[in-house]
Order: sequence, then C-alpha cells, then structure tokens
Amino acid sequence: MKGIIDVLQEEVKQAFEKAGYDGKYAKVTISNRPDLCQYQCNGALAMAKEYHKAPIQMAEQIVELLKQSDTFAAIAAQAPGFINMTVSGEFLAAYINEMRAADKFGLEQPAKKETIVIDYGGANVAKPLHVGHLRSAVIGESIKRTARYIGHKVVGDVHLGDWGLQIGLIITELKHRKPELVYFDNTYEGEYPTEPPFTMSDLEEIYPYASGYSKEHEDYKEEAQEATAQLQAGRRGYLALWKHIIDVSVTDLRKIYTKLNVDFDLWKKESDAQPYIPDMVQGMKDGGYAHLDDGALVVDVKEETDTKEIPPCMILKSNGATLYNTTDLATIVERRKLFDPTRIIYVVDKRQSLYFEQVFRCAKKTKIIGDDVDLIFVGFGTMNGKDGKPFKTRDGGVLRLEHLLADVTAQVSDKMADRDMDDETRADVAAKVALAAIKYGDLSNQASKDYIFDIDRFTSFEGNTGPYILYTIVRIKSILNRFAEEGGNLEAGTILDPVNDSQKNLMLQLTGFGATVENAFEEKAPHKICAYIYEVSNAFNSFYHETKILSEENEAQKASFIQLLKLTKKVLETCIDLLGFSAPDRM
Ligand code: ARG
Repeated sequence: MKGIIDVLQEEVKQAFEKAGYDGKYAKVTISNRPDLCQYQCNGALAMAKEYHKAPIQMAEQIVELLKQSDTFAAIAAQAPGFINMTVSGEFLAAYINEMRAADKFGLEQPAKKETIVIDYGGANVAKPLHVGHLRSAVIGESIKRTARYIGHKVVGDVHLGDWGLQIGLIITELKHRKPELVYFDNTYEGEYPTEPPFTMSDLEEIYPYASGYSKEHEDYKEEAQEATAQLQAGRRGYLALWKHIIDVSVTDLRKIYTKLNVDFDLWKKESDAQPYIPDMVQGMKDGGYAHLDDGALVVDVKEETDTKEIPPCMILKSNGATLYNTTDLATIVERRKLFDPTRIIYVVDKRQSLYFEQVFRCAKKTKIIGDDVDLIFVGFGTMNGKDGKPFKTRDGGVLRLEHLLADVTAQVSDKMADRDMDDETRADVAAKVALAAIKYGDLSNQASKDYIFDIDRFTSFEGNTGPYILYTIVRIKSILNRFAEEGGNLEAGTILDPVNDSQKNLMLQLTGFGATVENAFEEKAPHKICAYIYEVSNAFNSFYHETKILSEENEAQKASFIQLLKLTKKVLETCIDLLGFSAPDRM
C-alpha cells in the first residue's frame, strides 16, 4: 500500500502536469506549519526559474484544479507560492480502512530482500556486563526486530568476547589459588572433569581481583599474558578451563538476556573466527596488502581525503599473537561464508568508532569482503547517572543488569501498591512496566547521544516514557473489554469520517506507521519509533478525553470508534514489539 504522502503526491503531480508543469516539482511533505495545514507542496517556488512566472500565480492555478477533489478538506495557495493542504475526513477514513485490512498496516515489502547480520550485545565471558552492554543489547535488538519486520532475513549475533586477556587473568588467579587442579598438570593426558571448578559468583569475584592485582604487579600481568598466549596456542588444560568459563558465563548471560527480552539467533564467540585467521593472513600477505612494521604485520588504511590520522590496522603482533582486529576481520570472513550478507551492522559503544573505521577499511582493501557489502557502525553514547558520569550502582560498583532490573521493578511495584492485584499478577505487571521504562528510556534518545539514566523519570506513568505508552495501550484494552462485556461485537463495523479534530488527528498520526518504520530502519534509529508512538498515544488520549465512546448511541458510529481503537492498539503493540517490550493487560 502506498504511503499517504505518496498518494497525495500522485494526485498533486497530475494537477501539475495538467496545468502544463513538470510533475517532478510536485513534491509533497508533512507541513512544517501544522497550525495552518497538514501537508504542503513548495514546488511552485522551485519552478519559477524554469517557467519565468510568479510562483503564487502557478500555485493558484494548481490549487484551482485540486479544489474539486474529494481528497482535500482545504487546499490553498499562500504567498509567496506554497500550496497548503488539509485532507478530508472521507479520504482519511478510506485510507485508514485500507490500512486496517492490509497486512502489516500496508507496509510494502522491501524492493530487495536482503540478508543482514547484526552484531550486538557483545558481552565478554567472565567479565561483568557494563552499561555499554545494556545499550548494545537494547538498541541492537530493536534494529534487528525492525529489519525483520520490514521483511529482511536477519541474523542477530551476540559475538561474545571470549579470547582475550580476561581468560588469562582468571587462569592465572586460579593457578595461584588452587595449583593442585588437574588443569595445571602438564603431564596429565586424561579427560578433564565435566563439572567446572568454580561458579558464576566465584568468577565474579576472581576476575575483578585478578584484573586489579595485575595492574599493580607486572610479573603477574606477564603471567596472565603468557597464559592467554598458551590458551590461544592450544594448551589442553587451559582450553578445558576456558570451556568451563564459557559454559558458566553463557548460562548466566542467557538468563539475563531472556529477562531483557533480547534474543540472539547466534551465540558465536570471538574464538569461533580463529580457524579463518591463517588463510586470511596469508591472503593479505599474498595480495601485497600487509607489510611488516617493527616486527608486527600491519595493513595501511589511511586515505588521501582523511582529515585526521587513521593508524594502520595491526593484524599480528610481533610475537605472532592475534588481536581484537584480527578476530573481527576473520569474523567478517566467516560471516561472508556462512550468510553472504549485504549488510553487517555493528552496534557498539561509539568510542570504538575509529577502531571500526580501520577494520572496515582493511576488510575492503584486502578484499575479504566486496565493495557491495555495507559495513555499518552504529555507535552509541554513554548511559550516565544523574551526576553526569557513567552510570554506577548505588554502592559505586559496576552494573549487574539483574540488579538494575530488580531495582527498577521494585520501584514500579511500589508505585502500584494500591492496585487491587494478587502478588503474582503484580510481579508480572511490574516486570513488564520496568522493562518498558528501561528500554524506552534508552531508545527514545538518539543512539549516538549520551543520556542520563533517571529511574524516577523513566518509571513515571506520565510524559514521554515507556510506562505512559503502556498505560495508553492498557486503557484501550480496558475500553474494548468493557465494550465486549456489554455485548458489543469487536469484529463489526468500519471506520467512518472523523467526528472531531482530535479523532482526525489520531487517524492522521496512524497513517505515519509505514514511513516511520522504514525510516527507523534505514537510519538505524529506534528513537523515531518512540517519537511516533508518543505522538500516537497523545493523539489517542486527547481523542479519548474529548469523545464519548461507549455511550455513543449511534451503533455504526460506536463501531467505528471501536475499530479505530483496535487499530490504534495494534499499531502501538506492533511498535513496542519492535522496541523489544510488551504491554500487560492492566497496570
Ligand atoms: N566485547 C566487546 C566489548 O566489550 C564488544 C564487541 C563488539 N563487536 C565486535 N564485533 N567487535 O567492548
């Protein structure tokens, strides 16, 4: 189904042509003066040069032709040459009814169905999650859902960090604490125990301890680096420990991500790219792309047009060790082989943007991926506390996402203390509202910007918040329920011309669905979906306050309201699903 702007533009274009002007000038946009009109066309201004006529004169000529049309309730030429348009209730109702009947509210299939890999989450095994991982998960999940809804084939990959120094640190610390463990016995050739020698809480204590200690003790740090190198070189006992670390961490991470309603198609890890490294490196050497610099193997990636210094991309350290770069490049090789994607989207802290610039250039230059594949970096800003510094827990520690969720859930639950609900329902509702508060609080900001995580504001039932959107949906659900309880038929009826301005505005807002979703995907901008549902919710609430719905006596009119409510609910529910949360039945 065509977007409403396209429909209008088509009609306006015909009038331009009929009046003897080139149809290319008939561009229609949403009005930037909503107090005057809903849509506008500035084409007459642009044509002055070509036709040597006063724009207002041409605008008037076109308006004259469009005045007859049922599409417009008002259309006028305004100096110096704007065409201002307001659509008719009849046109709007017809458009909305078509949307209601269409699949995905009339959103058209993409011109080309693409395969898109989304790299998000990016947690590291054994290390605690930090706030950056929360943002990556929340934003990435929304981009993934939106791409999939639009009709692309999408693969979401958590790309766990499992191959770095953190593992060497844990191995080293374990060795100091329990040197008797069989994993450290180089002569041992048997099977290793299936039970890990530590729990998740052990790891949570061991890693920060080892990390802190290594910063003060150079020999300990070297030991950890050596352990990392031996692991990467394939030492059996260390590989067995590494597998335990992954198992324990992944079990824990799955729990957390499930609570966050974040769902990866793939649980790949940095280490999974290892098998692709040797051939990739050979190819870079054979192709003459890589050269030795101070013993290290590097690829130059600077370009003439650079305004800032882009350092070379290091592929192998002088001791032959691989780096974060190497793994990311090899992962591109792997993704190309497994999925042959047209785009790979990385949702990572924006402080890694230079790093990704190097990796992307290197990948293209060394031809491990074709120029036709879009490598896209979606860098997000920092989630700050009220003090404007990166968010910390109350005790100043790093964030445990579980604790954050629990805190927000408790706060929401307190707010709903007076509701007549059993404990189980209250817990379920509070969990849904808390998730909406956190996710909407994050997603409603442009991803690249820093924002302040303000629990009090995010959990408010009023204003531009997740709970407000849920509240709107719950309100609609309760009206529909009451209607059904009173014997009303939820399936009957069609949407009639709007009875008042607030209804007209609600209908108008709803027509923006398709364009919003497409635009949010193309720009990787979930905040556009948030802005849209905030507008729709406001429009609905004004309509609700100004219109008697259930007490409407004319049955057809009442059925029309009910159908509009249903459409509003479905649109809102679809949008929050794209954002990664859902609404309770009451709250
Ligand atoms: N594990 C990384 C971190 O914590 C993020 C991974 C991002 N994805 C990637 N392909 N490099 O910073």
